[in-house]
Amino acid sequence: MDKTSKKYNIVTFGCQMNKADSERMAGILEEMDFQWTAEPESADLVLYNTCTIRDNAEQKVYSYLGRQAKRKQKDPNLTLVVAGCVAQQEGEKLLRRVPELDLVMGPQHANRLEDLLQQVFDGNQVVATEPIHIMEDITKPRRDSKVTAWVNIIYGCNERCSYCVVPNVRGTEQSRTPEAILAEMRELGKQGYKEITLLGQNIDAYGRDLPGSTPEGRHKHTLTDLLYYVHDVPGVERIRFATSHPRYFTERLIKACQELPKVCEHFHIPFQSGDNDILKAMKRGYTHEKYRRIIDTIRQYMPDAAISADAIVGFPGETESQFQNTLKLTEDISFDMLNTAAYSPRPGTPAALWDNQLSEEVKSDRLQRINHLVGIKAEERSRRYLGRIESVLVEDINQKDTTQVMGRTRGNRLTFFPGNIEELKGKIVKVKITETRPFSLTGEIV
Ligand code: SAH
Ligand code: SF4
Ligand code: F3S
Repeated sequence: MDKTSKKYNIVTFGCQMNKADSERMAGILEEMDFQWTAEPESADLVLYNTCTIRDNAEQKVYSYLGRQAKRKQKDPNLTLVVAGCVAQQEGEKLLRRVPELDLVMGPQHANRLEDLLQQVFDGNQVVATEPIHIMEDITKPRRDSKVTAWVNIIYGCNERCSYCVVPNVRGTEQSRTPEAILAEMRELGKQGYKEITLLGQNIDAYGRDLPGSTPEGRHKHTLTDLLYYVHDVPGVERIRFATSHPRYFTERLIKACQELPKVCEHFHIPFQSGDNDILKAMKRGYTHEKYRRIIDTIRQYMPDAAISADAIVGFPGETESQFQNTLKLTEDISFDMLNTAAYSPRPGTPAALWDNQLSEEVKSDRLQRINHLVGIKAEERSRRYLGRIESVLVEDINQKDTTQVMGRTRGNRLTFFPGNIEELKGKIVKVKITETRPFSLTGEIV
C-alpha cells in the first residue's frame, strides 16, 4: 500500500490525561505520514485510547472493538490498536478476547507508539504493558485546539484510594523536570496558545520524585515553585492545573495562585465523600473538616474563586446518613461544578472485594438525588455572574448557534456570545453576562 495514503483515527475515552496522550500519539502517527480521518470505518489504523475508571467506561470499549474486529476479518490490512487504561489492566487477556488486535499498549508507552507499530508492521502481535520510565516527550502533539493546551507535569499516582484503578494502570509517580515543562510551554506560547492546563492525577505530588530537597526538608520542586518558574512564558495568558488532592493542598499554593496573575481562580479538588468514616474507608487521608478549611482559605484569599470537585455515592457500606453528609458538604460549599458517580467495583482494588456492596437501586437513587442538588447549586453559582463583565478567552464557535462564539471565564464557566470566530479566536475579550444557566452563561461584548 502507498504509505502516504494511509489514514488513521483515534477514539479517546476517559480523562484529560488520556486526551493529552491521544494528542501525542496523533502527533507520532502524523510524523509517520498517516493522515487523520474522522471516519473510523475508512481508516487504515484505528486506535482506541481507553478508560477503565468505571465498569461502563470499560464496556463501551468492547462494543466499539467488536465492530472493528469484524471489519478486520474482511480487511486484514486494518491495524487495530488498544491503548490506555483498559489495555494496561487487561494486557494479554485482551488478545484472547479480541484476537484481531495488533497492538495492546499501556499509557506509559504512549510516546513509544512508532517503535511499537514498527514491530507490528514487521508481523508481530505486540503487548506493551510493562512498567517503564516514561520517555521525555520529544514528539509534536497534534492538538485539538489552537487556543488551549494540556501539559503533563506528573504521570502516575502513588495514592492507594481503595476504590481506584488509576495507580494500577498509570503506574508510579514520574515528574517531568521543570526545564522540560518550561520548554514545552515556551513552544506553545510561540505557536499562539493562550491557555495551558498543567496535568497530573495527583498534581500536588509534583516534584516529590525529582532529586534534591531543601535543608528544612522541603522538596526542592513543588507545584507552587513550578507555577512561579513557568509563569512568565511569553504568549501564554492563562494557566490552570488539575487535579488537586485535599491531603497535600497547601496554603502556599493558594497564595501563589492569588499572587500570579496568569493563574486562574479555579480549583478542582475532589472530595469524594462528606463523611469521615467513608473517607477513611476510601483511604483518602483527610477529613471533611480539613476539606472545608481548604475551601475557606481559598475563599479568604480569592472570594470569587470557582470550586469544582468529584464525588462518589454508594461506596460500599455507605449508610443513608453518611450519604446525607455528602449532600451537606455539597450544599455548604456550593460547588460551581461537581462531577458525580455511583461507586463501581473495579478489578484489583480493595473495595471491590468487600461484602458490604450496595444495590444498584440505592446507588442510582443517591446519584439522582445528588445530581439534583448539584444543578441547583451550579445555577446559584452561575447567577452571581449576571450583569458582570467577565474576561472570556474565545476558543471556538458555538456549535449550536454558529452566529455565536464560545469561550471560558477565568473561573472556567462556558460562555457564549454573538461574534465572529475568525476575528475573536484566541482573544481575551470583555463580555457582559446577560443570561445564566447552571453550567453556562450568555453575554455580549462590551
Ligand atoms: N486523581 C483524582 C481522580 C481521578 S479518577 C483524585 O484523586 O481525585 C476521576 C474520578 O473518578 C474520581 O475523582 C472519582 O470521583 C471517580 N472514580 C474513581 N474510581 C471510581 C469508582 N471505582 N467508582 C466510581 N467513581 C470512581
Ligand atoms: Fe485514584 Fe486516589 Fe490516585 Fe486520585 S489520588 S488517581 S482517586 S488513587
Ligand atoms: Fe480513565 Fe485512565 Fe483517566 S482509567 S479516568 S483514562 S487515568
